Amino acid sequence: MKIVVIGGTGLVGRQVVDVLRADGHEAVAASRATGVNVVTGVGLDGALAGADVVVDASNSEAPYGEPSYEFFALAARNLLDAEARAGVGHHVSISVVGSDRQRHSPYFRGKAAAEDLIRASGIPYTILHATQFYEFLLAIVEAGGVSDQALRLSPAYIQPVASTDVAEALARIAVNPPRNMTLEIAGPELERMSDIVQRFLSGLESPVEVVIDERAPYFGAVLEERSLVPCEAAHRCPVGFEAWLRESEYAKANW
Ligand SMILES: NC(=O)c1ccc[n+]([C@@H]2O[C@H](COP(=O)([O-])OP(=O)(O)OC[C@H]3O[C@@H](n4cnc5c(N)ncnc54)[C@H](OP(=O)(O)O)[C@@H]3O)[C@@H](O)[C@H]2O)c1
Repeated sequence: MKIVVIGGTGLVGRQVVDVLRADGHEAVAASRATGVNVVTGVGLDGALAGADVVVDASNSEAPYGEPSYEFFALAARNLLDAEARAGVGHHVSISVVGSDRQRHSPYFRGKAAAEDLIRASGIPYTILHATQFYEFLLAIVEAGGVSDQALRLSPAYIQPVASTDVAEALARIAVNPPRNMTLEIAGPELERMSDIVQRFLSGLESPVEVVIDERAPYFGAVLEERSLVPCEAAHRCPVGFEAWLRESEYAKANW
C-alpha cells in the first residue's frame, strides 16, 4: 500500500512515516523539502501517482492571522483536487479538538474550512481531531509573549497528548478503511493551560511565572473554559505529562 504523508517531515508527520515504514508499508514523506508544495500545487501530481492513501499532516508556517486561514483553505483544495485526479481512496487528515468552536481564530477557521472541503469532496476520509501535543507547550509560551518574566495565559482546560501516540493513531487509521467521520484523541490528564504550562516552565527551571488572564488570547481566540476539551468518546492515550517530560529532549535542557 502506497501512503503519501503530506507534511511528512514535520513533528507528527515524520513519526507517521516511521511507523508505516516499520510496518512494511511504502510511505512517502512529501513537503516543500521534498519538492511538494500544497499551497502552489507544485509536485503534488507526481507525489500522488499510484497512492492509495494520503495523510495530510502539513501545517501553516504562520501560527495565526489571515495567512494561517489561507494556508489551510488553499492547501485542502489543492490536495483534494490532486487526490481526485490520482484516484486516491482514503484521505486522512489531522486537525485540532475544538477547531469548529473558535470562529475568531483564523488558524482554527482555516482548519474548519479544510474539514468542510474534505467532507464535501466525495473522497472517502477520516479526520482525526487531536488535542495539543506536549511539544506544543513551548509554542504556547512563545506565542504568549513573556514580559518582565511573566506570561499571561488563559485558564481554559486542555488535555495534551504525546505526538508519538497521535502518529501511531494516524498510521493505524491510514491502513484501515475510511470511517467518513471525525475521531478524537487526547492524553490522560485534563488540566488548566495556565497550570500545565507553569509545570512545564518549572520543569525547565525557568524563572518565568504564569499569570492567569481569562482574556489572554490563544492564537487569536479568547477561550471559553472548555473550548479545547475533547468529547467523551475521545480515545485517551496513556502517556501523561510527567512521563513525557522525563523522556523528552527538554528533560536535559535548561531555560
Ligand atoms: N502541534 C500540535 O500541538 C497539534 C495538535 C493537534 C493537531 N495538530 C495538527 O497537526 C498537523 C501537523 O502539526 P505539526 O506540529 O506536526 O506540524 P510541523 O511540525 O510544523 O510540520 C509541518 C509540516 O508541514 C510541511 N509544510 C509546511 N508548509 C507546506 C507547504 N506549503 N507544502 C507542503 N508541506 C508544507 C512542513 O515541511 P516543509 O517545511 O518542508 O514544507 C512540515 O513537514 C497540523 O495540521 C496541526 O494543526 C497539531
